[in-house]
Amino acid sequence: MEPIKKDLVIRGQQIYLRPITADDTELAVRWRNKPAVVKNFIYRKPVSRKDHEKWLTNKVFKGLVHQFIICRSEDAMPLGSVYLQNFEDEHKRAESGIYLGEEQAYGKGIGTEAVKLIADYAFGTLGLHKLSARVLAYNTASRRLHEKAGYVQEAHLKDELFLEGKYEDLILFGAVNPRDH
Ligand SMILES: CC(C)(COP(=O)(O)OP(=O)(O)OC[C@H]1O[C@@H](n2cnc3c(N)ncnc32)[C@H](O)[C@@H]1OP(=O)(O)O)[C@@H](O)C(=O)NCCC(=O)NCCS
Repeated sequence: MEPIKKDLVIRGQQIYLRPITADDTELAVRWRNKPAVVKNFIYRKPVSRKDHEKWLTNKVFKGLVHQFIICRSEDAMPLGSVYLQNFEDEHKRAESGIYLGEEQAYGKGIGTEAVKLIADYAFGTLGLHKLSARVLAYNTASRRLHEKAGYVQEAHLKDELFLEGKYEDLILFGAVNPRDH
């Protein structure tokens, strides 16, 4: 996949999405290490500035990950990030991921809107056929969000992960491009 076009802005109602840049590094590292985010991610180790810079260079700037910053429409305040990763060009599929880093953004429909916007970008602009998302079973907000954004639960994997001394279930969500039906 080619990297995202630098001047791309995806406009929604409450929010818009813009491509992540190196200038967002401090923000992204701070958000990604917040306990509310870490506890809902599979990868639990702290993310350093260096780790994030490597991620940008090796994944985002090469087009292997399409990552956006979610910004509030009214004042451009950055609230979190949404992204596509694990592109499989042959199968026209990828995986979506999301986190909000600013507590005041939670519970207002912003996560749902961001996932709807990135799914529309994946299906409309990139022409993908399928998106998937992996959600820890206890993450009720994310499960609900994905259902509201048009994903369906495709599998409930029992004791799939061993995290902090406990086995955890993982839910697989999938969404097929409505234009391909
Ligand atoms: C998951 C996350 C993105 C949700 O974003 P959000 O903007 O707060 O979610 P929304 O406001 O769009 O709400 C989506 C649904 O979840 C529900 N919800 C929100 N917070 C909830 C909570 N703490 N517990 C239960 N349900 C919750 C909402 O009520 C809504 O459902 P409804 O419309 O039926 O009422 C956000 O909580 C987050 O960033 N969490 C940390 C990182 C994370 O979990 N990422 C996803 C990994 S798979």
